[in-house]
Amino acid sequence: MDSTTWTAVDEYVTALVVHPDGALDDALSATARAGLPPISVTPPQGKLLEILARMVGARRILEIGTLGGYSTIWMARALPAGGRLLSLEIDPRHAEIARENLRAAGVGSVAEVRVGAALDTLAQLAGEGADPFDLVFIDADRTNLPAYFDWSLRLTRPGGVIVVDNVVRHGAIVDEATTEPDVVAIRRFNEMVAGESRVLATTIQTVGSKGYDGFTLALVQASS
Ligand code: SAH
Ligand code: DHB
Ligand code: MG
Repeated sequence: MDSTTWTAVDEYVTALVVHPDGALDDALSATARAGLPPISVTPPQGKLLEILARMVGARRILEIGTLGGYSTIWMARALPAGGRLLSLEIDPRHAEIARENLRAAGVGSVAEVRVGAALDTLAQLAGEGADPFDLVFIDADRTNLPAYFDWSLRLTRPGGVIVVDNVVRHGAIVDEATTEPDVVAIRRFNEMVAGESRVLATTIQTVGSKGYDGFTLALVQASS
């Protein structure tokens, strides 16, 4: 079994079960046409985010790392009337493409893209005393992952969920001797999770059209 099979299964599942509509497909093609890297979540992963958002009854969603807004659209679709999604993006061009995609998908008025280094925006949000989020999707640079997780914990309500993409990196995370900054940061993040009584967490390895990686799912509990 190899990555060709993983991709074929992703395509099979996507066509049969996930069946993204034209707006989602258009967002992916517009993102590719704009020259943005092909690192959006896959359709099955996007649908998982929608399902998680519906499971927690999310009314407020935070995303760190927008790219072309593909994952943003999936999550925004889970929002009830009056719900809001805020997505943080450092690259103004990515943000512009994403805003177009969000508009075209009909979620332009519920999903907002805020441009800036996420660390700065997160500090601003906390400083403004923003209402807590029900779901946070962390999908930006890995080196800041420990800090993103720390902010996410502060900004998520008990009963809320934090999802972290790209935490396995082809299995590189088990290399204790690694000096690769992304992997060092992911290992540091895992140590934070291990010592954190406010979350019930697990990590799931994944294969698919984006290769071998994984995500962490953390349920925020009342602090004890
Ligand atoms: N969530 C998207 C993919 C995000 S790709 C999807 O699945 O559709 C990661 C994004 O994070 C890129 O657009 C990149 O520009 C952005 N990013 C990288 N470093 C960042 C930072 N420090 N602050 C905010 N965004 C950042
Ligand atoms: C990369 C980033 C992602 O968010 C992802 O899901 C896959 C790959 C990357 O930067 O290589
Ligand atoms: Mg990702």
